[in-house]
Order: sequence, then C-alpha cells, then structure tokens
Amino acid sequence: MARLVIVSNRVQIPHEKNPRAGGLAVALGSGLVPGTMWFGWSGKRGHVEEGAKPALHEAQGVTYATIDLTEREYDDFYVGFSNGALWPLLHFRMGLFEFKREEEEGYAAVNNRFAESLLPLLKDDDLVWVHDYHLFPLGAALRAHGAGHRIGFFLHIPFVPPAMLAIMPRAREFIAGICAYDVVGFHTEDHKKAFLECVHVFLGVSADKDGNFVFEGRRVQVVVDPIGIDAEEFAAAAARSVRGTKVKRMRESLFERKLVIGADRLDYSKGLPQRFRAFARLLDRFPAHRRHVLMMQVAATSREDVDQYKQLRRDLDRLVGDINGRFSEFDWTPIRYMTRAMNRTTLAGFYRMAQIGLVTPLRDGMNLVAKEFVAAQSSADPGVLILSQFAGAAHELGEALLVNPFDADGVAEAIDQALNMELGERKERWHALRDKVWAGTPERFTETFLAALRPA
Ligand code: G6P
Repeated sequence: MARLVIVSNRVQIPHEKNPRAGGLAVALGSGLVPGTMWFGWSGKRGHVEEGAKPALHEAQGVTYATIDLTEREYDDFYVGFSNGALWPLLHFRMGLFEFKREEEEGYAAVNNRFAESLLPLLKDDDLVWVHDYHLFPLGAALRAHGAGHRIGFFLHIPFVPPAMLAIMPRAREFIAGICAYDVVGFHTEDHKKAFLECVHVFLGVSADKDGNFVFEGRRVQVVVDPIGIDAEEFAAAAARSVRGTKVKRMRESLFERKLVIGADRLDYSKGLPQRFRAFARLLDRFPAHRRHVLMMQVAATSREDVDQYKQLRRDLDRLVGDINGRFSEFDWTPIRYMTRAMNRTTLAGFYRMAQIGLVTPLRDGMNLVAKEFVAAQSSADPGVLILSQFAGAAHELGEALLVNPFDADGVAEAIDQALNMELGERKERWHALRDKVWAGTPERFTETFLAALRPA
C-alpha cells in the first residue's frame, strides 16, 4: 500500500510537551497509522544553514521530519501572511486583514522551501496530504519541482465567497495555485460551496454537480469531510479526571454553584468579548442566576507576536475586570478567566462536571471543543452544549442549543434555558449528539479523504 505523507505547519510529536499544538495537530495525531511520515515546522526559529536537511524522529512507527524557520521567515510567513492576512480574511474579518507584499513573498518562499526539503524524502508512489492555510501554495511548489504524486489539500478553517476574497491582491493566482492539488477538502458544504464559487468567478471554471472540475488539464475533486475526535479516549480521560484531585478542588471551590465552561485559544475568531457580554446580559436579565452560576473561561494565549492578538488580550483583561467589578459580591465572582493553557485531561474532567459548555465562535472551520464537551459528559447527568451556528460543528451537532454569537440576548436566553433544562431533555439531546460524535472518528476522517486521493 502507498505510504501516506502528511504535511502541516504544526507537527505533534508524541510525548513532546506542546500544549499549544491546537486542534488540527491533536486530531491528526490520533489517526496516524504506522508507516506514515509527518512533515512540518519544528516550532523552532533561528539560524538555518543553506541546504539544511529535515531533522528525522521516529515514534510508534511514524517518521516525523521537521525543519526550522529563520526569524525572518517566521515574521513574514507565520506572523505576517498566514496569521495577519489569511487567518482574518478566511474568518470573514476583512477589517483585520493586513496585507503586505513582502509578507506574501515570504509566505511563497517558505512554501517553496517546504517543497525543496520534502521532495528528496518522497517515494514515487507516496500519497501527499497537505493541511491548512499556511500551505495553500505547497502543491503548486511541489509540482514546479517536478512532483508527479497524488497531492491533496485539506483546509481546517472556513473559506470565503468571492466578494470577500477579492480584497486579496492576486486572488486569481491564489485560487489557481490551489488547483495544483488533485483533491481539496473542507469540513462543511458551506466552505466547499464558497471555494467553488471562487473557482467560478476568478478562473471562469464551473464544477459538475459533485464538485469536480478541470483546470489547466488537471482534474480537481472537491470533497466535504468533517474532522472528528477519538471520543472513546476523551470520554475515558474525563471519567478518570472527574475522580482526581483537581476536579475535587474545583467542586469545593464552586460551593454547589453551576458551572458554565469555555475553553479556546485566545483568538478573535472565538468570540470571547461577545461571550462575556452575553454572560453579563444573563446576569442582568435573569438576576435569579446571580450567585448560583459562574463561568470559567480558559483562553490559552496564542500567536502572541501578532498585533491583533495583543490587542484582544488587552480588551479581554479590561472587559472581564469590568464585568466582575460590576456583579461580584464578597463571596462570588461571576467570571474566572485564565490565559494559561490547561492540561487536556484536567479540562476533560471540568467539562464533565460543568452544566454548560459555551462554544460560541464568530466563525470556525470545525471546533473540536464542541465535540470534546459532548464526549466528556456522563450519560446519567449530561451537561448542555451551547454552540455557535457559525462553527463548522453546528452542521453536525444540530441537537445542541444553536445560537448567533453576535446576539447577546439570544445567547443569554440560551444559557438561561440550559440552566433550567430538565434531565429528560438533556439526556435526549445528548444521546443524539453522542451518536454523531462517536461516529466521526479520526480514522473515518482520514479514510474518507484518502479514498478520494488514492489513484483510481
Ligand atoms: C488552528 C489552525 C491550525 C493551528 C492551530 C494552532 O486550529 O487551524 O492550523 O495549528 O489553530 O495555532 P498555531 O498558530 O499555534 O499553530
């Protein structure tokens, strides 16, 4: 069988402590079969020798191959074009889009260096699977160096319709570059549709009813393949953790109060200011909940070298201070807010003991926290998931309480509804969600994509 070569910016090497690896790396890592190679950035930056070879590392039959970035590459490729331009644009935040031509060039150059470093490691019949927005042009760069492999691309974040993509200089070339792949995958039908509209508008090419089209002689297949989690493993971690000392201490600190929990990277796409304001709205409009509920938000700092993230952090510090100052009583503080990353197992236990999981991104490719919250619940007394309609996960998890995160009153009403929800309804909703979360394994995600990528 052909070997699978995964390429992504972040690589999750087992037992390497890297709590900031993010959903993509964790989810990909749990679906890896022995024999696979995973290629990407080491996370290190500094001096890079001309022609430096990737560092190789073997673990559980998987080969990890990583390269370092120079400071300049990190600034232009990662901080600049990937996270200052592509990330906001593809999350529908045109006002945060910061385009600099030298960063766009740095982005292309790093993709080219990825291609040059990867190519000597490839065997003829390898299947190459590239992940996420850092590496849109990698397929074209590999082809330019003569790679004749089957190469697929999966986008873990949303895609925007043509009218929004148009603000990107050279949008046509950007879309044409993506068409160097044989297969392009998205989490939802919406993202796929937006991409095909861009193909139509910028390249003048129409897809057939299945989403296949031909561009410059290459047949490109566009698929929808929602990523999942290892629910069994996460549920076991939650059941273990709930008996541990941290959950015990947490319980004691609550004094029987109900817990609303949120856990995200500290990212403007996650809608944290809107979420805090909605919680304040709950306390305003439904004062009976005061003193009886508290919200804990874990917002692990992320991408701290990007200006928009620095600003967000300052805004959140202030907003949480305002709300707590306004509502706190001498023995109750409504919001617990922490920016340190939290151990996954501990978090799983906190999800299990929480009454509500609040997952309200303004836009999200998928959002695996939503699935983890479901996996962590006990069947005897499940908590309620409140989920943004703009998270990719909402396409699957329709039995959650779906909300518009921009509507503070709507979110406040959903929290009130969840706090008052009878056990029977909670169980009914949770069982429906559980079936879906358990069915969407990481293996299914990988198999669905590879079925399209393998040569016919
Ligand atoms: C999201 C992206 C991933 C990224 C992760 C963490 O999940 O889709 O590609 O790795 O965030 O962000 P970071 O910038 O730390 O890699």
